[in-house]
Amino acid sequence: MTTQKLIVGNWKMNGSLSFLKENLSYWQTQKIFHQIVICPPFPLLPFAKEHLNSPFISLGAQDCHNKVSGAFTGDISASILYEVGCQYVLIGHSERRQYHNETNELIKEKGETAIANHLIPIICIGENLQEREQGKTLSILSNQVTTSIPSKGSNFCVAYEPVWAIGTGKTASLNDITKAHSALRQQLGQNIKLLYGGSVTIDNYLEILSLDNVDGVLIGGASLKKDDFSRMICNEPANSTR
Ligand code: PGA
Repeated sequence: MTTQKLIVGNWKMNGSLSFLKENLSYWQTQKIFHQIVICPPFPLLPFAKEHLNSPFISLGAQDCHNKVSGAFTGDISASILYEVGCQYVLIGHSERRQYHNETNELIKEKGETAIANHLIPIICIGENLQEREQGKTLSILSNQVTTSIPSKGSNFCVAYEPVWAIGTGKTASLNDITKAHSALRQQLGQNIKLLYGGSVTIDNYLEILSLDNVDGVLIGGASLKKDDFSRMICNEPANSTR
């Protein structure tokens, strides 16, 4: 059985053209083991596409609009993202939900538009600290799945990202991740890839990836650490048969 996982690096509004160039040339010298998706800021995508030459690395965008085109100044359409070489798009990241007031309904539309335009959406869901403290994690996740997952098409991934764990250095416990992913697996079935995100680092990613029902990780801060991220994407777990 293969232990190859999906590792997604979300640069957010960080990085630069020179950082991208540095990473691209470094990755060319590495033996990449996992399936990787890099999500740099939008303007860097065409350059990344032109210079990427690894079959293991794909490009993702950090968001797209729910409409394919129109008078939406400053927004980005799924069809153009596909045209410039993206295969994936993050949808409903908690920072989009928080700072851009994105609702589950809008996220669902975005996911459907992404699928209709040949992109694989990675739909982000997760409870906030208050919901967690009130013991509502599983019901919040179940509701987010019901209301924000595309109803058309099945080619999407779901990332469980507890809001309180994003960028805080506080990772969910292995037990919490196991419980959440097992509930998501039951609700979503075997074919949907389930990722965990929230303070994933070089020190904890292997044990997270070893959990049942964890098909990959979504990494923010640690994807900006060139050496750490490169080790993470190249590290072939023990007993692999790939
Ligand atoms: P983090 O971010 O790894 O820095 O916690 C994860 C994310 O926002 O997707």
